[in-house]
Amino acid sequence: MPTLIKNGTLITASETFQADILIENEKIKLIGKDLSYPNAELIDATGKFITPGGVDPHTHFDLPMFGTVSSDDHYTGHKAAAFGGTTTVMDFAVQEKTGLEHSMDLWLEKARKAAIDYSFHMNLTHMDDAVAAELPRLREMGVQTLKVFTAYNGRLRLDDGGIFRTLRLARENGMLVMAHCENGDVIEQLIPEALAAGHTTPEWHALTRPGWGAIESTLRMCAMSQQTGAPVYIVHMNVGGEADMLQYARERNVKVMGETCPPYLFFSIDDLRRPDGAKWICSPPMRSVEDNARLWQALKEETIQVIGTDHCPFFFDGTKPIIYEGHEVAIPGKELGRDNFTKIPNGLPGVQDRLPVMWTFGVGAGMFSANQFVAMTSTNPAKIFGLYPRKGALLPGSDADIVIWDAHKQLKYGVAHSHQRTDYNLYEGWQLTGYPEKVLLRGKVIVDGEKWLGKSGDGQFLKRGEGEVI
Ligand code: URP
Ligand code: ZN
Ligand code: ZN
Repeated sequence: MPTLIKNGTLITASETFQADILIENEKIKLIGKDLSYPNAELIDATGKFITPGGVDPHTHFDLPMFGTVSSDDHYTGHKAAAFGGTTTVMDFAVQEKTGLEHSMDLWLEKARKAAIDYSFHMNLTHMDDAVAAELPRLREMGVQTLKVFTAYNGRLRLDDGGIFRTLRLARENGMLVMAHCENGDVIEQLIPEALAAGHTTPEWHALTRPGWGAIESTLRMCAMSQQTGAPVYIVHMNVGGEADMLQYARERNVKVMGETCPPYLFFSIDDLRRPDGAKWICSPPMRSVEDNARLWQALKEETIQVIGTDHCPFFFDGTKPIIYEGHEVAIPGKELGRDNFTKIPNGLPGVQDRLPVMWTFGVGAGMFSANQFVAMTSTNPAKIFGLYPRKGALLPGSDADIVIWDAHKQLKYGVAHSHQRTDYNLYEGWQLTGYPEKVLLRGKVIVDGEKWLGKSGDGQFLKRGEGEVI
């Protein structure tokens, strides 16, 4: 049955206006004033804001790491995303020795429980002739993005030659390279030194991963993008200097784009010094309040194009179960590194928090406009990753992925409101103004207030085409 959303205020990446939305067969059919349709199911959105469903291009569900696994899987993480207004997620497949196609098959199997729409990037951790020969097949499968690492020596890292070769191949194959920027060699020097000196607490995670390593590595990626002509997307930008490097390169027409994640806007190394500092451990680490400020400025000025999450949650105390959907769940987490910061699983929850937190502290606090909010959390990632205008848009023909916001809702946020499968929330006790009230995935209401109407298996794999450089 068609659905008609009446009297909402639509916010897109470029405009804000009042209109009705007619939905039929999972798509937006019409947008206009005073629409009517016989027998349509009506949703009254008077006084509400309407945005396209959020697109989070950076999640890690069900990721084995540090002898445990990230605590949201492709169902619980999707459910949490939906409650926060996100209807599309992009996760990372891990490259296995058995080849790229087989690696993808393993992750597609894990994602069969999907509750929202999803796609994958490929973590490229090894490059040789066989891998190069398989890249076109990966693109045929709808995966046209490769993540490379300049850190995690001996595990995930490609050397600069491998990255350069990957960029050339990406250019030939119409693919986009995403880069994790830190200096792996420096980190490998500093960690054993810190441990030998008896430094085991969480702040040493940040002190052994210097911000300048991220800055020069970002500039290195920009340089290689310029030298190969291949576009590059810098993930999880965390230091102000990275924004400076991106600006430098973009001003010279280098095809580089960037993403930051909410924790890098709000938290600093001081949070790692708290007694529960392990809650903030991720890589790259939290930096300084000056870095927070520079990253906010880069969002406002659109030097950075995307706000993603790098959602990779772990329990703070995985020895104590929580109740999730009526069942006790306990998954080993941050307590694994109680005596040694190098053993603390790296990663933070955030897939549900992203939109509401950025709405309150970005739009509400006047850090950027509501249209920029939509651009950075939905439209830009849809464009960059080849999903626009199917996703990230309120346009006739787009998937009817829609968030209806109660912009006046007052909420003391925290773990009690969160469907992220972990025992803590980074924004515990923070006062939010505005929250998604109804969330539609391809025309179906999957979140209605506190009610979960979505289903495992309802999420579709999205084969992506070539994206845009914006
Ligand atoms: O600490 C993090 N971010 N874990 C996820 C892996 C990555 O590098 O994004
Ligand atoms: Zn990374
Ligand atoms: Zn990540």
